[in-house]
Amino acid sequence: MSSHGTPIPMMSAPCGALSGVADVPGDKSISHRSIILGAMAVGETRITGLLEGEDVLDTARAMRAFGAEVERDGDGTWHVHGVGVGGFAEPDQVIDCGNSGTGVRLIMGAMATCPISATFTGDASLNKRPMARVTDPLALFGARAVGRAGGRLPMTIVGAAQPVPVRYDVPMPSAQVKSAVLLAGLNAPGKTVVIEKEATRDHSERMLAGFGAEITTEETEEGRVITLTGQPELQPQVIAVPRDPSSAAFPVCAALIVPGSDVLVPGIGLNPTRAGLFTTLREMGADLTYENERQEGGEPVADLRARFSPDMKGIDVPPERAASMIDEYPVLSVVASFASGITMMRGVKELRVKESDRIDAMATGLRANGVDVEEGEDWWSVTGHGPGSVAGGATCASHLDHRIAMSFMVMGMATQHPVSVDDGGPIATSFPIFEPLMQRLGAALSRPQG
Ligand code: S3P
Repeated sequence: MSSHGTPIPMMSAPCGALSGVADVPGDKSISHRSIILGAMAVGETRITGLLEGEDVLDTARAMRAFGAEVERDGDGTWHVHGVGVGGFAEPDQVIDCGNSGTGVRLIMGAMATCPISATFTGDASLNKRPMARVTDPLALFGARAVGRAGGRLPMTIVGAAQPVPVRYDVPMPSAQVKSAVLLAGLNAPGKTVVIEKEATRDHSERMLAGFGAEITTEETEEGRVITLTGQPELQPQVIAVPRDPSSAAFPVCAALIVPGSDVLVPGIGLNPTRAGLFTTLREMGADLTYENERQEGGEPVADLRARFSPDMKGIDVPPERAASMIDEYPVLSVVASFASGITMMRGVKELRVKESDRIDAMATGLRANGVDVEEGEDWWSVTGHGPGSVAGGATCASHLDHRIAMSFMVMGMATQHPVSVDDGGPIATSFPIFEPLMQRLGAALSRPQG
C-alpha cells in the first residue's frame, strides 16, 4: 500500500541503452536536518535544493506544529523561522511522520528536553519499527515515553522539564539514534557526549557546527567521541542541500547493468560516511568515474558518470563499510545479480529494521526473478551469472519501502522479462521524480491498471 492507501502497481520492462543526465533530488538526511535545526535557531534559515519528498514534507509539517514557521516560496526556496533551542510549543494534534524513521526519531530527540508532550504516529511501516533505541537514551535526559508493546508508535513523549546532560554509548550503528541524542543535548545544560563504535553519517555534527553549536569529534580507542555543549543560541543559516547519493544510486546502478548505457548524475554529495556504494561498485569493476570533484556547503560533491559494465565481479563487501552504504544494499544486490560470482554482504543486521526487513524483501523478490540468494540473520549473499542472465518476470512486494520498489524497477531494465512491484507509491517518500527521470533516460516504466 502506498502511504495514501491506494497501491500503485508498477512495471519495468527490459529497455535499450540508458543515456543522458539524471538530476536527482536533494539529500534526504540533510533536508530533514535543515528543517529541524532551522526550527531550533533564532531567525530565518533559507534552504535551497530541499528534497520535497513526503518524508521531508512530513517533517516540515511537524516543525510547524511545534511552533516554527516553515514556508516554500515560488522559486523553491524554503524559509524556516525558528523558535530557538528550548522554544518548542506543545503541538495540539498528533504528529504524523508518515513513513519516516529519520523524521520521527530526530524530532523526538529535539523535543525531549523541552517541557512539553507530543504524541507521534506514522504509517503501517513506521508503526512497526523499534523506537526504544531512541527512547532509552532520551530517558537518561529525564524524558518519558509511553508507546505500544515493543516500544512501537503511536507513542507519547513527555519532555524533561529539567533535563540533565548525558553520556551515551550508541549500541548499534545508527545515525538516527546518535542525532536524536545530540538534538536532545542541545537543550540540556552542560556537555552531552555520544560515543559511536562505527562511524555513521555525520551530517548532524557538520550542521550543528554550521549553526554555531560547540561540538567536537575525537577518534579514540572507544570509537568516535562526540561532545556537544548544551543551550547554545543557534544562528540561522543559508543551506544549499547537495543531491542525494542514495537516490543517485538508482540511475548509476541502472546504467551499469543495461547494455550500452552512459549516464551522468551531477552534483552528488560524496561525504565519506555516505559513499560506500560507489567504492564497492568500483571494486566490482564498474565503469564509474567522479568528474568535477568540488566542495559545496561543507560537503564533498562530484558528478558521477556511469557506463554499462559487462565484466563486474562479485566481491566480499567489508562489514566495516556497511554504515556508509546501509541504504544501498538493496540496489547493490540487484547489480550483484548481473555480476559474475558471489557478492557477500556481512554485518548488515540493521537492514532488518528499516522501512521493511530489507534482506527478506530483496531475497524473496530476487529469488522469484531467478536469482540465487542465501541469507542469515546479519548477512546475505547473491550469486550472479553476468549480463543477460536474469530471467525476471515476477511481481515483487515493496512492503511500503521506497528503496525496495526502486531496486526492483532497476532490475527489470536488464532482465529477460519485465519485473513488477505491487506498490510503487512509497517511492514518493524520497524520490518523487524517479519515474519521469528514469523514463527520460530510456527506461520502460509503466503503471499497469488493476
Ligand atoms: C538516516 C540514517 C540511517 C538511514 C536512513 C537515514 C539519517 O538510519 O538508513 O535512511 O538520516 O540519519 P539508521 O540511523 O537507522 O541507521
